[in-house]
Amino acid sequence: MSTPIQMPMANRAPEPLLEFRDVMKIYGAGEGEVRALAGVSFEIRPGEFVAMMGPSGSGKSTTMNMLGCLDTPTRGAYLFRGVDVGALSRKQRARLRRFHLGFVFQGFNLLARTNALENVELPLIYRGTPRAERRERSFQALETVGLSKWWDHTPAELSGGQQQRVAIARAMITEPSVLLADEPTGNLDSARSEEVMELLCRLNRERHLTIAMVTHEPDLAAYASRTIHFRDGLVHSDSNHHAHSPAGRTAAESAPVEAGRDA
Ligand SMILES: Nc1ncnc2c1ncn2[C@@H]1O[C@H](COP(=O)(O)OP(=O)(O)OP(=O)(O)O)[C@@H](O)[C@H]1O
Ligand SMILES: [Mg+2]
Repeated sequence: MSTPIQMPMANRAPEPLLEFRDVMKIYGAGEGEVRALAGVSFEIRPGEFVAMMGPSGSGKSTTMNMLGCLDTPTRGAYLFRGVDVGALSRKQRARLRRFHLGFVFQGFNLLARTNALENVELPLIYRGTPRAERRERSFQALETVGLSKWWDHTPAELSGGQQQRVAIARAMITEPSVLLADEPTGNLDSARSEEVMELLCRLNRERHLTIAMVTHEPDLAAYASRTIHFRDGLVHSDSNHHAHSPAGRTAAESAPVEAGRDA
């Protein structure tokens, strides 16, 4: 009875998961007023991997903060699965954040004196998941990001790329519908950046995780299948492209590239 009516058309595009409708964001007032977003509209569908690019100050982080329910539009609307997030209470927004969204930041944001496993299980502690289940799921999440052997290492005992993979495991532990990543490789060299991007691609491909990621690097945006370019608080362009992810390559194309990469 609660199931919505299913349309029998096989090739119908799925409903948008995230939608901005003419979103405006103004910080401050009077002389100090900053128009961070000047009327932004886009839709992101389930399973998309979207890169957000644009010059410094063009509104990328403002957009991500809003997608992450950390901020609200001054005008316009943000819809999550068709629900107007602006009409939700603080508590409902917090629930939306906790149950549906995963975050990855440039600075990893791991607890320094806490080992990888404990960092990963943190969101489950907030959820009240029993300890045994927490441990098992956290260990599995570390396995997914290729770090199960490193479970008892603290962030200082891990490379930048490994730290970011722990942060991704932590973001994934709650099985979010969307991963929001603001310059996730901003603190990494290019080899570590590729490691992280390949992991994101795999999560997108294998788990149909929807990803919105800010990057300044065209090489990294190429891992996504769509790029939204911001300029002066507006969408300057929005285009789908062939993802240059390992998945997008043929085996013949990817083999020599992979072989030479770690040399
Ligand atoms: N909390 C805030 N208070 C006032 N102004 C803000 C605030 N957050 C962002 N801004 C302003 O809004 C504009 C857009 O900022 P935003 O952080 O979205 O840019 P960005 O595209 O992420 O840039 P970068 O590439 O440097 O991270 C900038 O002019 C910024 O100074
Ligand atoms: Mg930013």
